[in-house]
Amino acid sequence: VSYPDIVQLAGGKPVFVRHRTKKEIEEAQNVDVAKLPDPQPDSARVKKPEWLVVVGVCTHLGCIPLGHQGKFDGWFCPCHGSDYDTSGRIRQGPAPRNLEVPEYAFLSDTKIKIG
Ligand code: FES
Repeated sequence: VSYPDIVQLAGGKPVFVRHRTKKEIEEAQNVDVAKLPDPQPDSARVKKPEWLVVVGVCTHLGCIPLGHQGKFDGWFCPCHGSDYDTSGRIRQGPAPRNLEVPEYAFLSDTKIKIG
């Protein structure tokens, strides 16, 4: 995974920390939430819109999705073709749920404590 995606380990799981562009934030916000397979507004998934923090494990069978791929600019899981958007929400494919948002806190503007 290349910058700006950073993979860290929290409790053994990979975590994606994505610094979202203005365009990616708008894409995440301008979605008809009711039409999503796992309806969740972007605002419920981020503490600061510029930063998305999600567990990097596909909710289908646990593969690690690839960043900046797929139809929705988010993540694509090549195992069985699940497409996640810039909020880490499942948009297409067999995965039943959005990428999980772990416990985390901003210690400062540039430091995040995960777990
Ligand atoms: Fe990701 Fe099946 S494990 S699509």
